[in-house]
Formats: sequence, C-alpha cells, structure tokens
Amino acid sequence: MNAPEKITLFTLNGWSAQQLAAVEQALSRWVAGPADAPAPAGLGDAMRYAVLDGGKRLRPLLVLAACEAVAGNAQAALRSACAVELIHAYSLVHDDMPCMDNDVLRRGKPTVHVKFGQAQALLAGDALQALAFELLTPDDDSVDVATQAKLCRMLAQAAGFQGMAGGQAIDLASVGRPLTSEQLHEMHRLKTGALLQASVMMGAACGASSQAKQATPAAQRALRDYGAAVGLAFQVVDDILDVTADSATLGKTAGKDAAQDKPTFVSLLGLQASKDYAQQLLAQALASLQASGLKNTNALHALADMLVNRAH
Ligand code: IPE
Ligand code: IPE
Ligand code: MG
Ligand code: MG
Ligand code: MG
Repeated sequence: MNAPEKITLFTLNGWSAQQLAAVEQALSRWVAGPADAPAPAGLGDAMRYAVLDGGKRLRPLLVLAACEAVAGNAQAALRSACAVELIHAYSLVHDDMPCMDNDVLRRGKPTVHVKFGQAQALLAGDALQALAFELLTPDDDSVDVATQAKLCRMLAQAAGFQGMAGGQAIDLASVGRPLTSEQLHEMHRLKTGALLQASVMMGAACGASSQAKQATPAAQRALRDYGAAVGLAFQVVDDILDVTADSATLGKTAGKDAAQDKPTFVSLLGLQASKDYAQQLLAQALASLQASGLKNTNALHALADMLVNRAH
C-alpha cells in the first residue's frame, strides 16, 4: 500500500514566524553596525530605536514571499527585505518630524525626534537610507553584481522622487486642499504603493540571475499588478484605520488625517465606500496572482488578505 500522501497546510502565522525571526536577527545585526566601529555620537542608538522592536514588517514579508514564488536566491532576498524595511523606517522617522506630520507616537513608542531630538532624527533617517543600499551590495559573492545593481535601481526608484519622496511632497502640498480621485490615487501610489510594489518586484528579481528561475515576462507583469493593487489597498486601509482604530491599537496617533486636514480615501469617498474599495483592490490583487501562473504563491495570497483586513 502506498504511504498516505503528506498534506501540508499553509498558515500565514506559521510561515511568517520563521521569516520574521530571520528578518529581526538580520536587522539587529546590520543596524547595530560592526562592534569595532559603532555609529558615533548616539547616532546608532537613534537608528536602532527607529528600526528594531516594532513594526509589522509587511514589506520584508512581501519580498520574501515573492522570492519564494520564483524560487530565488534567499541571501539576496533577506538583504532586500532588510533594505526595504530600512527605507520604510527612515520614511517614518522623517514623516513624524514637526516639519511633516508632527507626530509624537510611532510603533507604540515616542517618535525618534521626541526621544533623540530633531537633528539626530534627521541624521538617523539619512543613515538608514544609505545603509539600505549598502546591504544590497555585499562584497562577497552571495549576490551576483547584475542582481545587486538591479535591486539598487528598483529600491532607488521606489524611494525617490518617482516614489515615496515624491508622494510625500504631494501629501504636504495637499494639506487643506481636496484632491480629485485621480490626484489622490497618484499620491498614494507614490508615497506608499511604490515601496510595497518594489518589495514584490525585488523579491521576484532575486530569481533573476538564473535563467531556470526567471519569472516569465507574463508572471512579472502579473506580480507588478499584484504589487500595485496591494500597495494602493494598503494606504486606503491606513486611511480607514486612522478614522476607525484607536491610538493604542495603532501604536500611532489616531485621527491625525482629519485633524491635519489631509485628503484621504475616507475624506474623498466616505468610510463604507473606502472599505468596499479596499476589498475590490484585494480581489484585483488575488486575480493578478492567479494570472501569474506561478505555483508557490500561498504566502503572497495570505499577505494580501492580511494587509487589507488588518486591524492595525
Ligand atoms: C505605516 O506603515 C506608514 C504608511 C506607509 C502608511 P506600516 O503600517 O507598515 O507601519 P509599521 O512598519 O507596521 O510600523
Ligand atoms: C506616510 O503616510 C507614508 C510614508 C511614506 C511614511 P502617513 O503619514 O499616512 O503614515 P502614518 O499614518 O503617519 O503612519
Ligand atoms: Mg504623512
Ligand atoms: Mg504620518
Ligand atoms: Mg496614515
């Protein structure tokens, strides 16, 4: 008689517990800097405070899940996962500063500028951004140089004027001004969507060095669409939670968007229509995933679902 077929049920919690452990360990090693050359004058403390001990790590999980879907290079993926998180953490440090959203609470703790002062917060953000690119360019042979260059380009585009920084500029220029649906989509696509989409595409690019592992152009297009839908949905949900959740649950000050007169999906569409829109985007993301033809997409599927239906 044949041995009973082994059935492996996928659970997001089981999968992400393992991935998160690897990400946390790598971040705490890389952000601390070498023991014999720590970041000077308290800068290292501010950097560690900004990155470690908090955050849902959604972007690293997307990188690792996409890499898994294309059976890519795990070393490159772990470095990419941490690099994306460093850019994200730096963006939060600057986003919270008095010249931007002027927030005092982040990830359940006082914000970096409250704890360390504005100058140190500015520098911690600068240093985290630079460290992200250092992580993507190891000087051993664990990641081939063509993949290193590609990963750097993708992250630079998502972080800079064509991505997060550009979106943040629109956000600040839009205070007190209602935006059209098109303008709001563009702002969210840049300020938040670009880095989330890049997380997916960087994970997929970690398979690029080997022809055998390369995702087909159709699969890459499908992953790009998945990333765009998930990226936009993420910020729609962030806008919703700002209205519906409390500060203790969010670990950041609730109700800030209305208080600061920021245009959001809730201010444009209302609460229920925003919730419906987030679910529509989730359905789009899942349809793209199916269209990718990739087999190992359990984690990407579960992450999209979690990210849209999250409570914080
Ligand atoms: C918050 O992002 C900032 C936005 C881009 C909307 P997250 O909700 O992913 O924040 P952390 O990383 O979990 O703190
Ligand atoms: C910030 O958007 C997006 C970033 C690029 C950091 P928000 O200003 O809405 O993020 P939160 O709500 O403060 O986390
Ligand atoms: Mg902001
Ligand atoms: Mg903010
Ligand atoms: Mg917000």
